[in-house]
Amino acid sequence: MKVLCDITEWRSLRRSLAGSVGFVPTMGAIHAGHTSLMTRSVTDNDVTVVSIYVNPTQFNNAGDLANYPGTLAEDLAACEAVGVDYVITPTYDDIYADGFRYQIDETRFSRELCGAHRKGHFTGVLTVVMKLLNIVHPDRAYFGEKDYQQFLLVRDMVDAFFMDVEIVACETVRERDGLALSSRNALLSCEARKRASKLHRLLRSLYSDAEVARKMAGVGFDVDYIVTTLGRRFVAASVDCGDHAVRLIDNVEHAN
Ligand code: PAJ
Repeated sequence: MKVLCDITEWRSLRRSLAGSVGFVPTMGAIHAGHTSLMTRSVTDNDVTVVSIYVNPTQFNNAGDLANYPGTLAEDLAACEAVGVDYVITPTYDDIYADGFRYQIDETRFSRELCGAHRKGHFTGVLTVVMKLLNIVHPDRAYFGEKDYQQFLLVRDMVDAFFMDVEIVACETVRERDGLALSSRNALLSCEARKRASKLHRLLRSLYSDAEVARKMAGVGFDVDYIVTTLGRRFVAASVDCGDHAVRLIDNVEHAN
């Protein structure tokens, strides 16, 4: 596995690659959810590329960005273990040489669900994903259903701009109690982790969205939204951990 922090070096190397290229963009703090995407790419493609870049423009909360776990050595070992060929670790100056003057602004769905609670979040996500896709130039790019709204926005962006890449959705990887794997789970206190274990079953239940919201509040969640739309039920909620709160998001297929 080769690690490149220089985008120029990567771009000339890319021109020499033969066969299909699969790409998994990440912000590091790699866990089994991320590696499931990588494994899928390794199976589907001749070459797999991972990016590790904590994108500041998608954080609407400075504390959230400051607390984002940085675990590069472990991340690289995890990528290597599943057969990734290249990891790119670009810098802010590489990605935002334009000073974020140019932005991808989706004007409808990005304002709903998480977008209604995290102003500018999806503009940051779509802008960096567009840049990364143009840098890596993959045949396929892999996204987790865990962030289903993100997947839909990226898929539709690629269609809207006639980009030559297939966007592949991969199932959410969960703990035994159904909690979706997330780098944020490490920030949960013991007590909050116990409460979080109720989330998945409530999400899948046949209770109405309003009833689930009430029950979640009863367990101690501060609910941002719980909405069933597009055949899925989406939730975002914070759980108090004493001196900090952790925001969890999830979604499941749902007919309600
Ligand atoms: P990050 O949160 O690091 O996630 C990288 C990819 O892993 C995303 O496609 C996400 O949906 C997927 N993923 C995370 N947890 C998962 C789980 N439990 N099961 C399956 N897939 C999971 O999402 C981002 O980074 C960023 O927004 C990014 C797309 C890299 C742009 O900065």
